Amino acid sequence: MRKQIAAANWKMNLTVDKGEKLLDDILAAGIELSADQLAVFAVPSPYLQLAQKKLAGRKNYFIAAQNCYSKKSGAYTGETSVEMLQSLNIQYVVLGHSERREYFQESNQFLAEKLNLVLEYNITPIFCCGEPLSIRDAGTQNEFVATQLEESLFHFSAEELQKIVIAYEPIWAIGTGKTATSEQAQEMHAHLRSVLAGKFGKEVSDTISILYGGSVKASNAKEIFSQPDVDGGLVGGASLIADEFITIINSLK
Ligand code: PGA
Repeated sequence: MRKQIAAANWKMNLTVDKGEKLLDDILAAGIELSADQLAVFAVPSPYLQLAQKKLAGRKNYFIAAQNCYSKKSGAYTGETSVEMLQSLNIQYVVLGHSERREYFQESNQFLAEKLNLVLEYNITPIFCCGEPLSIRDAGTQNEFVATQLEESLFHFSAEELQKIVIAYEPIWAIGTGKTATSEQAQEMHAHLRSVLAGKFGKEVSDTISILYGGSVKASNAKEIFSQPDVDGGLVGGASLIADEFITIINSLK
């Protein structure tokens, strides 16, 4: 089975005390994950080390960075390097979140550079794609997300691609309370998988975990995750509430 992943994206929220309490509360639920299930917490960078320590000894629980830079090191004030993440034993990083694309002008080409470096350091990227409302309204979402995959991922070998997790997040569903229906999610996930199959072959595309993101919460996680091509979720708002996220982890296939 593909890896099923409940990924929390805290974004720029929570003070360190609140973040620590949230992690403690979630870990206190003592959810035992099976070999194919992962819980990943993308925390703000100042908390990476503390959060990483908290997960010591927890099988299949991981900390992720929310971003990193495309250069190895040097005079890039304010940025976080992949080498820094590696030195903290961070094994996941979210790349290409729509907020990074929109507010920090991250292009598909720039994300390809980041992905190259992240794979070089053996860190798993959670690569986000997804269309804005105008594209969905125009009915061209399939072409739009295919281009995101083509321009950021198609230069990789099949072996490299298999080290990448994809998150489909329709922008119109992020933080809006408006979730894609489970049918819409399934339809797009199947499309993404067929785009990958066209380039890398079906056998390879069948191994890629594709998460859904956009207003996932305790009350809808089970139904969304139960879709055949949905392998868990990337969760913003609801990941900040312990009980919500506990239920979301428990909703994994
Ligand atoms: P949301 O955010 O769950 O608050 O919609 C999801 C995301 O941006 O990853």
